[in-house]
Amino acid sequence: MVRKKVLFVCLGNICRSPLAEAIFKHKVKEQGIDQLFEVDSCGTSNYHIGDPPDGRTLRNALKNGVPIHHSGRQLTNDDVKRYDIILAMDSSNYQNILRLPNASQHLDKIQLMRAYDPVHPGSDVPDPYYGGERGFQDVFEILNRSIDCLIEDLQRKITGGIVP
Ligand code: 4NP
Repeated sequence: MVRKKVLFVCLGNICRSPLAEAIFKHKVKEQGIDQLFEVDSCGTSNYHIGDPPDGRTLRNALKNGVPIHHSGRQLTNDDVKRYDIILAMDSSNYQNILRLPNASQHLDKIQLMRAYDPVHPGSDVPDPYYGGERGFQDVFEILNRSIDCLIEDLQRKITGGIVP
């Protein structure tokens, strides 16, 4: 079975994308379908290479019962080749991904995270970095419902609608 490779991308890779990665991993593990996926996250910037997630992200994940372990890394040209689906947290991240030399050959893989939001599709996952804890919970709720839809969509594509 060829695993679907899923990559979540934000700016710093310490707030939104590591939380998205953690939520995705937690959900597919709970559903017993984690073997179908390879999942990671990264940032378009080099600001937080090697850093753990922001303390507010760690607290938020803990509060919501989602295990989180990640070390910050920067998006590379190879990532764009390697991953099957690349989810940008906001339109600025999306534009930054498109600046990579490989990106124009892989436009079909690069999407906005909130393309999967059943409540407000297409808008940005807001950057919570300069705000308070409430902003982190808003991000959690957006990601939580969007990732449910993302997993359903990917599972349909992998199995043709048949749950393994
Ligand atoms: P993230 O949030 O892109 O969701 O990880 C940010 C983290 C750090 C910075 C900006 C946004 N920063 O400017 O250092």
